[in-house]
Amino acid sequence: MKRIAVLTSGGDAPGMNAAIRSIVRIGFSRNIEVIGAHAGFRGLLEKNFNPLLPRDVSGLLERGGTILFTSRTDGFEEEEMQEKAIKNLRSEHIDGLIVIGGNGSQSGSLALSVKGFPTIGVASTIDNDLWGTDYTIGFDTAVNNAIQAIDKIRDTATSHARSFIIEVMGRDKGFIALDSGIATGADIILIPEVKFDVDKIIKNIEEGMKKKKMHHLIVCAEGAIRARELEQIIRSRLDIEIRISVLGYIQRGGSPTRFDRIIATLFSERALTELVRGESGKLVGIKDNQIVLIPLGDAVMKKKSIDRSLYKIVEEVSV
Ligand code: F6P
Repeated sequence: MKRIAVLTSGGDAPGMNAAIRSIVRIGFSRNIEVIGAHAGFRGLLEKNFNPLLPRDVSGLLERGGTILFTSRTDGFEEEEMQEKAIKNLRSEHIDGLIVIGGNGSQSGSLALSVKGFPTIGVASTIDNDLWGTDYTIGFDTAVNNAIQAIDKIRDTATSHARSFIIEVMGRDKGFIALDSGIATGADIILIPEVKFDVDKIIKNIEEGMKKKKMHHLIVCAEGAIRARELEQIIRSRLDIEIRISVLGYIQRGGSPTRFDRIIATLFSERALTELVRGESGKLVGIKDNQIVLIPLGDAVMKKKSIDRSLYKIVEEVSV
């Protein structure tokens, strides 16, 4: 294999640039030409390819976002699109593809590999929701971004004796909510994986007030309930000062943490090595501190579960 393509797809995640840098530079060292596809799978369909050299990826380790641009995979589930992408890749004499992205993007990788085009995925999404890997590139930075924001909100909460509902990202999974909630001492954490009971939330706040708690911090994943909706429910049942804060896209931006830079570099090295060795249909991730290869079918189909023991701890430490 002498010429490969790389693309970033789905929601951008801090560390994607570090992953691109690693692929380009290691590829160069190993005499493999690396071509960047513009804006995810769309670049394959539009034949928007650009060769990348080591100096093109200077100063990228610390940069959030993705220099290759990104897009959602809408429409790529159609076979016609997948065949067109493969035809375009082959017409440019590209022999393999590395896809840096999350769940939806890796379904695209799986489709291409099933159709016979050598494709390897690199696990990257702030949601951390790919099965088989303990962490995905971008998650650690997103959680730290959320922690910094929640710490600041706590200053106001404490000063005004006001409760806050802080909505964090996570449509289907509560990894960001769980980690950021534990790390900031949230009183209540709501995640899509655990059904919640409004009565229990109200009781929890009432009991907290009896114990002289001046405010409550509730961290909720967007997929569990929207902050606005929960605020209305609580206001209708309790006479307390309550505000909401939707953290939104600030979670996804900024310079990646040490951890994200390192896993981005290591995942990419492994992806390149495996692709060139003839592997396909695999996702690179990390399990028990080891870089691992996960069958793409499992990574996208199986459901990754949260550590319920963490969830239980919240109840006990928030007395
Ligand atoms: O990339 C993951 C994610 O940030 C989710 O947490 C969030 O629900 C979604 O993307 C937002 O999607 P979009 O970028 O399309 O608004």
